[in-house]
Amino acid sequence: MKKESSRVVLVTGASSGIGEAAVLALLARGYRVHAAARRVERMAPLREAGAQIHFLDLTDESSIHVLFENILQTEGRLDALVNNAATAAYGSVEEVSLADARRQFEVNLFGLARLTQLVVPVMRAQCSGTIVNISSVGGRIHTPLGAWYHASKHALEGWSDSLRIETSPIGIRVVVIQPGAIDTEFGPNAIGPLLERSGSGPYRALAHRMAEATRRTFDSGKASPPALIADLIVKAIESPRPKTRYVAGHLARTIMATRKLLSDRLFDALIQKFL
Ligand SMILES: NC(=O)c1ccc[n+]([C@@H]2O[C@H](COP(=O)([O-])OP(=O)(O)OC[C@H]3O[C@@H](n4cnc5c(N)ncnc54)[C@H](OP(=O)(O)O)[C@@H]3O)[C@@H](O)[C@H]2O)c1
Repeated sequence: MKKESSRVVLVTGASSGIGEAAVLALLARGYRVHAAARRVERMAPLREAGAQIHFLDLTDESSIHVLFENILQTEGRLDALVNNAATAAYGSVEEVSLADARRQFEVNLFGLARLTQLVVPVMRAQCSGTIVNISSVGGRIHTPLGAWYHASKHALEGWSDSLRIETSPIGIRVVVIQPGAIDTEFGPNAIGPLLERSGSGPYRALAHRMAEATRRTFDSGKASPPALIADLIVKAIESPRPKTRYVAGHLARTIMATRKLLSDRLFDALIQKFL
């Protein structure tokens, strides 16, 4: 049911996948939604559906400032920020260049952090606001050839915990969502660069097995629809007392429970067996 609301939400990474689904779910609930990403043309259907569309490149601080100032001037407030945009620089630690690793951290952590730094004073002045950080089960577990992605999401988890405890006294709620496999471009898009970096060097056998496992997961039809996470984002924003973390999507709960139960070595062995 549509809920009439003048509440304002910003969603990053809105040009596809979970971000796009979140924009649609929030519009359906009556929110004023600002959608941001680099591929502005991909967001034309969101504009038609009623969202405000913005260019955002999280690796470029001036782009983050321009976006924030535009929204503040138009709305004068921001009730929720959904930090959803991310990239995945898969490949062995030896073979992913530090430039690629830094670029990934710029998107997955530092750009997200800069945007959040701009938003927090607005929410502090309002004495209210919700920040939803889209992490991953990859923020709790690890796989080979995923060191930089896992590092960025593990960092986001710890950063979010500190932000939550720091800002809850001033009325800001911080929620982490940890999706499992979700049917978006994210997994398939990671395969090409993975094979380019590690597909013919010392880790080639592992890289090809990893690519195959990713293909199997995303071609199986078992990956969950992005709307599942979009609904959780709405729930986190609307709940009077949201959970600190939500785990959802294909294999997510199983993976988290397994990680909790197994020692590091047993978990390593399980992942190695799977690959
Ligand atoms: N799909 C999964 O299985 C899965 C599982 C666990 C967690 N997640 C998390 O879910 C979130 C959304 O991913 P998704 O699955 O929806 O993948 P997706 O469809 O590939 O979406 C990623 C979004 O990030 C944006 N983005 C990438 N680089 C950017 C940059 N430099 N500046 C601004 N935006 C940028 C992309 O837009 P532009 O390219 O247009 O900028 C795109 O809209 C991510 O945080 C991801 O880690 C996904």
